[in-house]
Amino acid sequence: MLDDRLIVTKFAMHGYNVHPSAVELLKKSVDLRKIDSVISHICKTVNSFIITPEDVLSVLERMKEIEKKVEKRPEKPKLEKERRGIVVRDITGRSSCEGSIEDFICYFNSRFEKLSKILRKRIRPTPISMLERLGGEQVEIVGMVNGVREYKDYAIIELEDKTGVVNVIAMDKLRDQALELLGDEVIGVIGVVRGKSVVADRIIFPDIPIKESKKLDFAVVFTSDTHFGSKEFLEDEWKKFVSWLKCEVRDELADKVRYVVIAGDIVDGVGVYPEQEKDLKITDIYEQYEFAAEQLDEIPKDIKVILSVGNHDAIRQAEPQPALPKEYRELFSKNVIHVGNPAYVDLGGLKVLIYHGRSLDDVITKIPRLSYERPHEAMIELLKRRHLSPRYGERSPIAPEREDWLVIDDVPDVLHCGHVHTYGVGVYRGVYLINSSTWQSQTEFQKKVNLNPMPGIVAVYYNGKIYRLNFCRSS
Ligand SMILES: [Fe+2]
Repeated sequence: MLDDRLIVTKFAMHGYNVHPSAVELLKKSVDLRKIDSVISHICKTVNSFIITPEDVLSVLERMKEIEKKVEKRPEKPKLEKERRGIVVRDITGRSSCEGSIEDFICYFNSRFEKLSKILRKRIRPTPISMLERLGGEQVEIVGMVNGVREYKDYAIIELEDKTGVVNVIAMDKLRDQALELLGDEVIGVIGVVRGKSVVADRIIFPDIPIKESKKLDFAVVFTSDTHFGSKEFLEDEWKKFVSWLKCEVRDELADKVRYVVIAGDIVDGVGVYPEQEKDLKITDIYEQYEFAAEQLDEIPKDIKVILSVGNHDAIRQAEPQPALPKEYRELFSKNVIHVGNPAYVDLGGLKVLIYHGRSLDDVITKIPRLSYERPHEAMIELLKRRHLSPRYGERSPIAPEREDWLVIDDVPDVLHCGHVHTYGVGVYRGVYLINSSTWQSQTEFQKKVNLNPMPGIVAVYYNGKIYRLNFCRSS
């Protein structure tokens, strides 16, 4: 939360006093995330040593104009040009969401249509409104999960399609399956109509077909959650990693690297959690990205760096997130390609779906057999549901875009996540699952929430295999 003392201290650090009404104005108009950047702009433009409300207003108006220009996205063709060659599919420059009721209706319709289309390849659903006339008969239905109620010997799934709502009774093993439903996912059910309910014989997830793994003659490095700007950023270990990429010590695998993929949380950000400023080495968000750009500039220029975003980055929090705004993108070298979250990228024939992984918190919390120590197992649940953030409105905010960009409508060769700061790799039906750790050791906040990171480990995909490299001895 912004308070008077924090604002006064921040100005004092720049060598300025601030008038109380200017403090009030800042509290009303600026959120915590942007305060460092606003203060730094004010201090660069004023001539006196006492900041007045007029000084604040003039900077806020100028920043608003810049933001408006960025929103108009005149740079989109340039961005598209930069990204050509790796064929990106993401929300950047395509967002239509205004948060109206109509947007929410369109969003859920899109989710239902896309997922039921996948299910309809395997089952022929009867509309829910027609079930009452089919008492005693076996039926197939497709619906969105409204909720699950737990009873001693069974569970009831409330399932909805465009024509109505029905209670599905799940017993024995199906009860266990029902209790793992997250809510808002689209599933199929085969069962028998009993009165106004359906007694389930099978629950069917959209799921993915089996894929063959690709053997390519170049290597792709997967990493994530660099958190540049944090006091806990592991600079020495990061330098070791970059030195490996530079082949400073001869290494056959490093020699093959053509891409480095980073799945978001590039910087630690500002105001992401309470009292974060205590964990920051760089407190200005712009300066954090300047530092990030300097670090990534060390990577050899013949390697393309694919940079996605996460919940610590300076972009809207609701998913799907566009790529970083132009003012930050411009800091990076030309071999850095900016993408949104999620983003499909084609890396020389390897189809990679990058997703920061915020929904993994919801999945791991809801399903007791899953854990943060084995994040790839939670990623399987996303593939089974063909959705990157199945539960609407828990810890993962979703923007109601007219199209649901979080549906996994195209099955990738690799699903790459981060966010949980642990390392886990697996294969599910031929798709590689990679959760690629972090470059930040445990923060005070993580200690409080009992999050034990496994920093400094990267995954390298080469010739159909994943190699695990550890640049941090303690991991
Ligand atoms: Fe992170």
